[in-house]
Amino acid sequence: IVAAFQPQVLAGRRVLLTAGPTYEPIDPVRGITNLSSGKMGYAIARAAREAGAEVTLVSGPTALACPTGVARIDVRSATQMLDAVMARVDASDVFIGVAAVADWRVVSAAKGKLKKEDGLPKLDLEPNPDILATVARHAQSSGHKPYCVGFAAESDNLDAHAEAKRLRKGVPLLAGNLGPQTFGQDDNELALYDDRGITRLPRADKLMLARLLIRAIAERLQ
Ligand code: CTP
Ligand code: CA
Repeated sequence: IVAAFQPQVLAGRRVLLTAGPTYEPIDPVRGITNLSSGKMGYAIARAAREAGAEVTLVSGPTALACPTGVARIDVRSATQMLDAVMARVDASDVFIGVAAVADWRVVSAAKGKLKKEDGLPKLDLEPNPDILATVARHAQSSGHKPYCVGFAAESDNLDAHAEAKRLRKGVPLLAGNLGPQTFGQDDNELALYDDRGITRLPRADKLMLARLLIRAIAERLQ
């Protein structure tokens, strides 16, 4: 019902987003992951749908229900997430990277369960691909489509870290928040970083912030 009253600022647009953590296996039962409930990404998927967009949500493991009218693709690892995203990127007008992608993965996960009595495992790590930066590079060579939006959760110096991250990733817009005190909570405080400078959004619940973010994105698409 509420959705029907949202201004249809993304009518006819296709929005692709990532949400939740990724999970990188060590063996069949253990893994490396990042802290993320997925709440912010799912709220943005819902807000984009309410605004009239066709929404595809590529999600790492979360305990959340898929928002009504949103197409969800479930993945586990960062490479699976990258593949799912790249398969759909050319059919998207907007890409929003909200996932907390694990920065490293184990080079070769054990096929069988490691046993404690065999001692401490020696884990060789390698970096995961940067999904947002990969999409942003792709967009730069495809007429700035999709329009790319990043997220950053920082523990301190939010403004400096967020703007540096935006430039490093090559995205026109980045939303920043302080963590970990906001993780898993329903409320958040977001600031938007782009060429215009810093736009501070009011402290609010994640759905309200998601709606404000969707409006800010729609304004910048015109
Ligand atoms: N991101 C991504 N792929 C990765 C790492 C991050 O797509 N392998 C995206 C996130 O979804 C987010 C943005 O990049 O939109 C910033 O993520 P963050 O973890 O803050 O940045 P990193 O570049 O990984 O830097 P660090 O963790 O060292 O702060
Ligand atoms: Ca990271």
